[in-house]
Amino acid sequence: MLSRKQQEETKEVARRVLEDNKYEVSFNEILYRRTVPSKKFYVHQWKWDSATHAMGLIHLDPERAYDELRSLFAGQWENGMIPHMIFNPAETKYFPSADVWGTGHHARGEIITSGITQPPLITKSVLYITEHDSDKERAGRFIDEVLDKLVDDHAYFKKYRDPKDMGLLTIVHPWETGTDNSPRFDDAMERIELADIPDRVKDLNKRRTDIKLGKAAHRPTPQDYYRYLYLVDLFRQWQWNYTTIIEQSPFAMQDVLFNSLWYEANRCMALLCRKKGRTKEAETYEAWADQTKEALLTLWNPEFKQFIDMDVAKGRSVMIRENTNAIFLPLYIPDLPEEILEGLLQKLSDPQEYATSFPVPTTALNSPKFDLMRYWRGPTWPITNLFIIEGLGRQNHPKAKKLQENIVGKTLAVIAEQGFYEYYDPTLQNYQLSNKHKDEKALGFGSFSWTAAIFLYLYHNYIVTGEK
Ligand code: DGY
Repeated sequence: MLSRKQQEETKEVARRVLEDNKYEVSFNEILYRRTVPSKKFYVHQWKWDSATHAMGLIHLDPERAYDELRSLFAGQWENGMIPHMIFNPAETKYFPSADVWGTGHHARGEIITSGITQPPLITKSVLYITEHDSDKERAGRFIDEVLDKLVDDHAYFKKYRDPKDMGLLTIVHPWETGTDNSPRFDDAMERIELADIPDRVKDLNKRRTDIKLGKAAHRPTPQDYYRYLYLVDLFRQWQWNYTTIIEQSPFAMQDVLFNSLWYEANRCMALLCRKKGRTKEAETYEAWADQTKEALLTLWNPEFKQFIDMDVAKGRSVMIRENTNAIFLPLYIPDLPEEILEGLLQKLSDPQEYATSFPVPTTALNSPKFDLMRYWRGPTWPITNLFIIEGLGRQNHPKAKKLQENIVGKTLAVIAEQGFYEYYDPTLQNYQLSNKHKDEKALGFGSFSWTAAIFLYLYHNYIVTGEK
């Protein structure tokens, strides 16, 4: 547990990280104010990062929280999709750069974006920041300003990503989940033969900057990148036509993490619509949330005692059983059936799986795929902890409450002790004891805005008010 002094000091550092990562950019003669994830590498705007930044910024500077989201909405495509990245043309540090995507025909004037999306956290963010703004009139005006944009975003997901109306969205690139190299994508991605990837695409890999600016051991492998870039190249050839992409992409998954956040987004959307007296629409989003809830429950596998993902590329229907922390995201569904809840709580309490010194690792410790330092294959990330913390709060079970307290306390303590990194060694304690790899507890890029925003969010929701 952090002392009051440590809390205050760390809050101040969080504020400074978000301040240092702020930048302004003009497009179409409008000035946008936004926050980069990290000046060391991630120098553009990312969808789910920014949605989270706003949820921290609301506690520091509400106008900045609103501006952060305004800037994201500015990149929305005509078909309703909010892309996962909006580029800053003044920056060259990050790869893959704007020219790789070839999305120019979708651009709104000068605003150049990627061609895929990311989890629909923005709806939750709009609800959260407007509920936590003490100026209720301003909050109401902001909902009026963006509600129809959210309607278009949800309509895009429903129309293009769930064309058979099953309640489950399909993602077509691991980057869409934000958990790029999670083991749950291995089998599906390995179906793409490296030999089939043209040299021209493989050559793009030479432009990678992440492994020069950061540590290669913390980042996805070259084989991962060949396949990531191959998918981008393919979709580009199909001119980012999402009917074609969904039907023909060699990679397509119904992912539990993404769909749990879709469930949550529809729940939040219904609440936003109700606030504005848009009752009929609220009922639609409630129905979508219910439909997704039922569909997610069918992905529980009683034999494996975990949720599974579905590889649905080109009409396939193949179960993916990887023990990653994505299986905990359906905790967002309140009062899960007893068997499911017991199964998940058991895994979260098991030191062989997820009860590590700094929980919750992205892959179970005893999985053959566990990799201590490599991005989403083992390290603990504050963002997935936030989801699990919130989900545990929806369950009426004493063990859930205890687990939640433990994860909140450790997340805040590790951030305070190790600094504002992307991700952390989940076995921290062991390394401290053995004093081995002592510089490798905090991983990825530092001065990371997401982590600063999450610190503020957890502090305000679980320490200051003690609520949930
Ligand atoms: C990266 O560059 O690591 C991102 O996750 C892709 O969006």
